Amino acid sequence: MNIRGIVLAGGKGTRLGELTKVTNKHLLPVGDVPMVYHPLKKIIGGGIRDILLVSGTEHMGDFVELLGSGKDHGCALTYRVQDEAGGIAQALGLAETFSANHRSLVILGDNIFKAPVTQILQDANKHPDWAWVGLKQVPDPGRYGVAELKGSQVLSIEEKPKNPKSDFAVIGVYIYPADVFQVIKTLKPSGRGELEITDVNSYYLKQGRLGSTVIDGYWTDAGTLDSLQFSNQLVRQDPPVF
Ligand code: G1P
Repeated sequence: MNIRGIVLAGGKGTRLGELTKVTNKHLLPVGDVPMVYHPLKKIIGGGIRDILLVSGTEHMGDFVELLGSGKDHGCALTYRVQDEAGGIAQALGLAETFSANHRSLVILGDNIFKAPVTQILQDANKHPDWAWVGLKQVPDPGRYGVAELKGSQVLSIEEKPKNPKSDFAVIGVYIYPADVFQVIKTLKPSGRGELEITDVNSYYLKQGRLGSTVIDGYWTDAGTLDSLQFSNQLVRQDPPVF
């Protein structure tokens, strides 16, 4: 399959307080493995072998020490340093040389979920030149990108809205065609000073090139103290399927 995998594992992890003072969020344990194993194994489970990991300068050495070439996991890893945290879309832009002539399956390093990525890949394969997002109903949509839906059609996406138009969070699992890197170059920083992945998704939506799949099973991020603990509970009670 002409698709490459990207794990975004940068950021400062400030919402985790002291836990991320000397290490990267994605190296903290979720279940019996470091968090980053989860997105990595999902991508590999989707049949993708060429995978890029993006992280900051501070902890890239730790990722290389942990994962090496990727051969122990049955994949080929490439690493790309993000000099400064500038948002998810900025981090994805760093994958341009790696994925310029391919589609990309992108997973945020702190997203923990039950289902394998096979369903979303199958759905997205019906429209290879579209972007595709995963959705999940959540009790606290205002923490996330939120999709307004009509049936299964996405009408709008808003980043962390005060008055969410639905309880469908846009999860950190995205599939993009190769022109995503051109789209990223047109973005302007948001109010929080970041290049927002929601702006990328909204661009495809306006073009009529955005699809979505509601994923089965549990989903959570693990970027706050509560959600990190919750993700550990979920994974121990009901191990994810890769
Ligand atoms: C990011 C995205 C958001 C998405 C979430 C999923 O939020 O901006 O749209 O719903 O990941 O984990 P952040 O983790 O930057 O708050």
